[in-house]
Amino acid sequence: MIVPFAAGGPTDALARVLGARMSEALGQQIVVENIGGAGGTIGVSKAAKATPDGYTLLFTHMGTLAVNIALYKSLPYDSLKDLEPIGLGGTNPMVLVVKKDLPVKTFAEFQAYVKANQKKVQYGMAGIGAASHLGGLLLNSMMQVEVLEIPYKGTAPALNDLVSGQFDYMVDQAVNVLSQIQAGNIRALGVSTLKPLPQLPGVPTLDSAGLKGYEVTIWNGLFAPRGTPKEVIAKVNQALVTTLGDDKIRARLTELAVDVPTAQEATPQGLRDLLKASIDKWVPAVKAAGVKPE
Ligand code: MLT
Repeated sequence: MIVPFAAGGPTDALARVLGARMSEALGQQIVVENIGGAGGTIGVSKAAKATPDGYTLLFTHMGTLAVNIALYKSLPYDSLKDLEPIGLGGTNPMVLVVKKDLPVKTFAEFQAYVKANQKKVQYGMAGIGAASHLGGLLLNSMMQVEVLEIPYKGTAPALNDLVSGQFDYMVDQAVNVLSQIQAGNIRALGVSTLKPLPQLPGVPTLDSAGLKGYEVTIWNGLFAPRGTPKEVIAKVNQALVTTLGDDKIRARLTELAVDVPTAQEATPQGLRDLLKASIDKWVPAVKAAGVKPE
């Protein structure tokens, strides 16, 4: 199972929680391979070109398959044509997190600080088209600031550097940052959903804290290379459905603030529809944010 981001990050965490239980359901060990870089496009491309025999799967998020259509002049794969959807794995809220000693306590103070210090402030992200890039670019565009972006192979290595204070802020999936927020190693200033997260009591929504209309969640899905036999897709889908129906897995995902897919979303067609809808939603939204494709 290719994960196109670094080990220990949000995509990897979800892939490993699901993969371990799916291995039991399939009676066969799923091995996660992390191939990070270029906002996930290197790993996705490798999966799209793999032999479609059921032995290569891809676990990735909507950034790499939908958002980056607006961010790259040309991509080495066609998300809708080169991959077979298997099922949705989970949807994640995001959190604006800042380094511990950034001299701000609220989103309003953060916005004022970033505006006043645009030349020196830096934000971290996992490459062009990553979820953290989408979260950050929408935030920066709505705050009307331009700051230096620091790309990583995933937000796991970025988070290490945020904890040690090497850059100022990041918008990342909750699953990756919750434990460091709870340990007091970084601070959360807002969540990307329209409702606060029970896992982060006291942290407002960015929408209510001053960025009216800011709303972004990141779905993660399981895919296979195009041409993978239908019966293989059905079998792997069945293992995913079994996994998502397991109470222990559901409880673990909820703890990590992951929204567990409905039965319809966990079908190949459900994921295909979601991918199409995400392309229709995010490609124009990113273009409207004024980001030039690379
Ligand atoms: C992202 O920003 O796309 C993710 O956090 C990637 C990752 O899993 O590291």
